[in-house]
Amino acid sequence: MSVISGKKILLGVTAGIAAYKTAFLVRLFIKAGAQVKVVMTPAAKEFVTPLTLSTLSKNEVISSFTKEEDHSNQWNNHVELGLWADLMLIAPATANTLSKMAKGHSDNFLLATYLSSKCPVYFAPAMDLDMHRHPSTRENFDTLTSFGNIMIPATSGELASGLSGEGRMAEPDDILKFIEDHLAKSLPLRNKKVLITAGPTYEAIDPVRFIGNHSSGKMGFELAAAARALGAEVILISGPTHLQNPNEEIKLIRVQSAVDMFEAATKFFPEVDIAIASAAVSDYRPKLSATQKIKKSAETMMLELVKNPDILANLGETKKHQILVGFALETENEEENAAGKLQRKNLDFIVLNSLNDSGAGFKSETNKIKILFKDGKTKSFQLKSKTEVARDILNEIILLSNE
Ligand code: PMT
Repeated sequence: MSVISGKKILLGVTAGIAAYKTAFLVRLFIKAGAQVKVVMTPAAKEFVTPLTLSTLSKNEVISSFTKEEDHSNQWNNHVELGLWADLMLIAPATANTLSKMAKGHSDNFLLATYLSSKCPVYFAPAMDLDMHRHPSTRENFDTLTSFGNIMIPATSGELASGLSGEGRMAEPDDILKFIEDHLAKSLPLRNKKVLITAGPTYEAIDPVRFIGNHSSGKMGFELAAAARALGAEVILISGPTHLQNPNEEIKLIRVQSAVDMFEAATKFFPEVDIAIASAAVSDYRPKLSATQKIKKSAETMMLELVKNPDILANLGETKKHQILVGFALETENEEENAAGKLQRKNLDFIVLNSLNDSGAGFKSETNKIKILFKDGKTKSFQLKSKTEVARDILNEIILLSNE
């Protein structure tokens, strides 16, 4: 599966003969699972039609600051588009556009979008060989790369002028490969396998009733999505939840009970590099689960419970090279209890969330965490969305794995 799968790519097309190749490029990006939007300079429309690129990208193609078709006088929002993109590619990038980019001009929609973008910007020069070797063009390449833009070098070969030499835009297949390789290299969890437990467990009393808890699975699913986005291969073991798999590249194993979760987690643990236990696992289960629905009879009813296996403690006992992270959901003596679990379960760090903090813990879209490390250090975080909390936790793991 390509690393650009799920990425939002903004393709900027400028006025060079190689613009016709962008039709193939858009197809390749879409086939690799990316979302594509196209912006063009007005002159680029002489080389490839917006209709072709909008049909292939399944998105409107923008080439001016206003919505031309309906004469609505509405602005096309270059800032929004710049922020939408995970990466921008300018291909073909003509000498004229590169020069304007180097100087910060914004006299067309493509340039304004480039200046507004916060994502990595790749550019694939395409021009005749003398233009390509001109000192001003060379200087523009240097300036643009010094800004952090990434050049996909032109190749040598037959040029539109009939001359032969350096200046041909890289072929679409090679552009795709260049971007994939570049992205893969910069992902901090590439080549890492991560196991995550999430959600509640349901401990059956009879075929219709169970002992469970309020975990929605959200925290664990956000961790899985963030780990995948950072390049990891992710195995997500989840108790019952309504959440969908956030990324089809994540191996999602749905389980019901603590025993099911224990079996799945201990099976995969030896092959992973990192394990994060965010599941709210039931500590006890009914000793006997009735095969038929229990009928109402006496005024009171005793339910005998037996202890469930402690999944995380077991992983802690068997851990070798793995970084092991647990959660602690507390209601009192928070730090003391969390520190005890950190030590007993042999963790690298534990993520404390307290039900005494509003917006933290179960169900909500937010969480407020404090991390306790095994060397005694702690780190407190503000109330944030669970998406951001997941990134914070993974950043700490990345720092640990680089030590
Ligand atoms: O799912 P959400 O609605 O987004 O809510 C997220 C959350 C509140 C469930 C999550 O942030 C969280 O705190 N998860 C851990 C909840 C919990 O059960 O904590 P605990 O203190 O009881 O357990 C300590 C650690 O041991 C946890 O990592 C837990 O996964 C693990 N454990 C506990 C018992 C057991 N039998 N096996 C385990 O692996």
